Amino acid sequence: MANPLPPFAFFFLLCLLLATPSSTSSPTFPIPINSDRQSHLQFYIHDKISSPNATAIKVAADPNGSRASATGLHFGSIYVIDDPITEGPDPNSKPLGRARGFYSVSSTDGSDLYFTVNVIFMYGIYNGSSVAIVGRDPIIEKVRELPVVGGTGIFRLARGFAFMKTHAFDTATGDAVLFLEAYILHH
Ligand SMILES: *[C@@H]1O[C@H](CO)[C@@H](O)[C@H](O)[C@H]1NC(C)=O
Ligand SMILES: *[C@@H]1O[C@H](CO)[C@@H](O)[C@H](O)[C@H]1NC(C)=O
Ligand SMILES: *[C@@H]1O[C@H](CO)[C@@H](O)[C@H](O)[C@H]1NC(C)=O
Repeated sequence: MANPLPPFAFFFLLCLLLATPSSTSSPTFPIPINSDRQSHLQFYIHDKISSPNATAIKVAADPNGSRASATGLHFGSIYVIDDPITEGPDPNSKPLGRARGFYSVSSTDGSDLYFTVNVIFMYGIYNGSSVAIVGRDPIIEKVRELPVVGGTGIFRLARGFAFMKTHAFDTATGDAVLFLEAYILHH
């Protein structure tokens, strides 16, 4: 996929050089609006539905059973997730943090999710900083675009967008590995 925005040629490492450690102390006010930084983040989300140690659990479903679905997911189902995120597609690669939130099956044909997570970083100077990603996830499309709507710590005032792809999907268990690439402006 071609990079649609050449000005975002900043990578995580560069962000690490520019960013100031997160602090819960009060920021100076007014917040200078011209100090936007850019970060390009890439990581993998491991969405494990199967036991043992599932990190995505179904907490709600249509009480009247399942209607026809092209995807195996049924309208009305809600899954709460606490998925590990890692640097590479291997679940044993460097842990970066967790994706915590939920997704619900929001189209009657089971093809479209409402996906809302806080991506919480847990290493180095990023430890404790987070970004909020909220949007639609039409899972049968190869690339889905989701808005980045906010953040904390290093990612205060975050706004941007993320591309999400299904890197691997186990049809027997429903377990998925997602690749997520985010382009973020932040304070
Ligand atoms: C599940 O979690 C337990 C407790 O953390 C651990 O001992 C076990 O190895 C895990 N099992 C799998 C299959 O990951
Ligand atoms: C479930 O289906 C029955 C029969 O079609 C209907 O009467 C009932 O209202 C439905 N309940 C829900 C919660 O949709
Ligand atoms: C992240 O911060 C927590 C709480 O402040 C601390 O317990 C943990 O060791 C830190 N982890 C890393 C990898 O720095």
